[in-house]
Amino acid sequence: FPNVLYEADPKFLARKKSDYPEVNKVYEDYKQSQAVWLVRVMEDGQDRLVALSTVCTHLGCTPNWLEAEQKFKCPCHGSGYYKDGVNFEGPTPRPLERFRIFQDATGNIVVDKAKKYRQDLGEWNQNESFLTMS
Ligand code: FES
Repeated sequence: FPNVLYEADPKFLARKKSDYPEVNKVYEDYKQSQAVWLVRVMEDGQDRLVALSTVCTHLGCTPNWLEAEQKFKCPCHGSGYYKDGVNFEGPTPRPLERFRIFQDATGNIVVDKAKKYRQDLGEWNQNESFLTMS
């Protein structure tokens, strides 16, 4: 057999803009299958959809989204993050990471986990670190 390494495709389709109708909402549809939250946030005066990594930036556990408290909370050591991924409590030193997000030619939303954007490196304003919704 040829010595070929089959790696998982880092890109996945995340439906269409119309499937994310609510502003300020965390969509958990791809948490289990892709380790990504799709979150609609108001940021810099723009309505944006962002793809947040579910990997806690402390030591790599998976936080839970707590709807009643409007925060992500990590069960391992208690780090907390706002809806936009910015940390505000616990030992983690930095926000959750975001993945590349864009639309293909037919309007499908594509998330590309091969490309990450870090807020602490000033990368959250880069092209394709978010998708403008309106
Ligand atoms: Fe999340 Fe430590 S791994 S708080």
